Amino acid sequence: MTDDARQQTQEVYYPTESIVEQANITAYMRSKGFSNWDDLHRWSLDQSDTFWDEMAQRLGWYAPYTQILDDSKKPFFTWFTGGKTNIVHNAIDRHMSTWRRNKLAFIWEGEDGTVRNFSYADVNREVSKLANVLKAMGVQKGDIVSIYLPRVPELPFAMLACAKIGAAHSVIYGGFSHEALRDRIADAQSKVLITADGGYMRNKVIELKKIADDAMSSSPTIQTAIVLKRTGHAVDMHVGRDYWWHDLMALPIASERCETEVVDAEHPLFILYTSGSTGKPKGVVHTHGGYSVGIATTFHFTFDIKDHDIYWCAADPGWITGHSYIVYAPLIEGATSFIYEGAPNYPYPNRWWQIVERYKISILYTAPTAIRGLMRFGDAWPKRHDLSSLRLLGSVGEPINPEAWRWYYDIIGGGNCPIMDTWWQTETGGFMITPNPTTPLKPGSGTKAFLGIEMDVVDEHGNRTADNADGLLVAKRPWPSIMRTILHDAERYANSYWNNEPVGLYTAGDSARRDKDGYFWVIGRIDDVIKVSGYRLGTAEIESALVSHPAVAEAAAIGLPHEIKGTGIHCFVILRSGIEGSDKLSEELRTHVAKELGPITKPEAVSFMAALPKTRSGKIMRRVLKAQALGQDLGDISTLEG
Ligand code: WTA
Repeated sequence: MTDDARQQTQEVYYPTESIVEQANITAYMRSKGFSNWDDLHRWSLDQSDTFWDEMAQRLGWYAPYTQILDDSKKPFFTWFTGGKTNIVHNAIDRHMSTWRRNKLAFIWEGEDGTVRNFSYADVNREVSKLANVLKAMGVQKGDIVSIYLPRVPELPFAMLACAKIGAAHSVIYGGFSHEALRDRIADAQSKVLITADGGYMRNKVIELKKIADDAMSSSPTIQTAIVLKRTGHAVDMHVGRDYWWHDLMALPIASERCETEVVDAEHPLFILYTSGSTGKPKGVVHTHGGYSVGIATTFHFTFDIKDHDIYWCAADPGWITGHSYIVYAPLIEGATSFIYEGAPNYPYPNRWWQIVERYKISILYTAPTAIRGLMRFGDAWPKRHDLSSLRLLGSVGEPINPEAWRWYYDIIGGGNCPIMDTWWQTETGGFMITPNPTTPLKPGSGTKAFLGIEMDVVDEHGNRTADNADGLLVAKRPWPSIMRTILHDAERYANSYWNNEPVGLYTAGDSARRDKDGYFWVIGRIDDVIKVSGYRLGTAEIESALVSHPAVAEAAAIGLPHEIKGTGIHCFVILRSGIEGSDKLSEELRTHVAKELGPITKPEAVSFMAALPKTRSGKIMRRVLKAQALGQDLGDISTLEG
């Protein structure tokens, strides 16, 4: 049976009674007097102010808010208006006066096996010291600090230190190239970059400082670089600009005491760049107040966090999944969060399973691409390990194919760990469509919208589609952790998400179906964004990287199915006149893209063409290229150039 046919049979996995009994959501549902999820969900929409107020009251506020949601300037919503807070107050400071002071906040394992543990008090000390260093470097409330670090505990510390003093952070994923880093530094106008000498991946050194040097050489705003020593290999230190992290932290200015800056609920917390349908990445802006409430609530009910849990989100802290669900939500909820530095199959394909056994991980949250990648090595690797500590599993980043879902469920979860297939986006800040541990699961479906969240599938006019019909995935009302704007481009925010058809609904850019039980099935992106191994890339960025090569006149990039990565990048180029295509040139162009944008963007293939299919107005019809490559019907090509 094909996966699609299996979907049609709608196999359903029910949670055990003990899972239901102990779930946070069950306690909450009972406290509200409801006996089923749908009724509770309906109430959370009908009384959404009451619901979000209750959720906000789980957190601490320096000064109370006077309004829950202000939608008078739609789509520029504000939440918890008038409230004074700081995410660090909830993520760290609150725990200092409780027993959690001595609880482990982070357990980190390096690829080489080194282990570092940090209690909440340790995190407070490291963050406070760094916050004082940043202040001494002239960083002020409202500034944006760029961060380019490998997957080490200092990455969360750097983020938290910025937040603590009211500066926003912009984390640039360590796999990005110097051009990508430079553009993001320039957009954020950062004066300070926090980076490292290098990072490790498969026992190889990634030369982060060298890449940062290239980026900084054309970043006039940068005055200071703080450089963490991770690998210890020789790097150039630019006198007067570059300072070692450990030297700064040893100075008297790096005091262990630092007051957390009181900020408005709507004060910017971070910028995170993500790909859209143009070549210019979008600087998505999130704020302290609403974001804290949204991520803490979703984490509490979906991952059902308890004090005895050891929670592991295997994403990189540099992406939204890491921001929300490695760093901020687990800390707000007082959880112990595990971080692993390296590759899942290093030195052997049992590395992850060894970690689960060693640290007694109880909640594992990862991406379908990682599951497929590990599944390929066979069942013997996980079966060598005792994975019985696992209680819940999670998936994010792309639709999970039912085959991978079942492997994850049966082989990793031992047939008794519900899988939380969470659908959300950089823009949404937190989960939007997600099961909770009590939800009957259908492999491949994220099930239903979270409390206070209203999702639907509609046609291009905004009308609700029939059950099982493809349509656009939309949110019908705002929620606390929604992005507030795009940095320097409020118009693009309004136009990309709210003003395109259907007008007035938040359009996610995904296509989806809703089945007869109201379960959502996300199909994939409908815009020019592709998801490669869960990483979000814009075709326009890949195309502009190709066109920057002297041999290329025009280029088109599309995503085609890939067994492990979900989607692989395939490029079609027209060469400049007089240049002949060859295997060597194709390889050179693949490497060129990887160099320009970072290794994750390396195309699977680059083919040469005499012409690209275009509309009469000159827009490349990627859809036609894709259908051609897949040998499918070309669909409506009435706008194709003659
Ligand atoms: C896709 C990642 C299906 C979707 C948190 C979305 C998913 C994009 C899922 C956002 C899921 C994310 N099932 N598709 N569970 N989760 N997506 O901004 O296409 O990197 O629009 O955020 O990932 O990607 P982003």
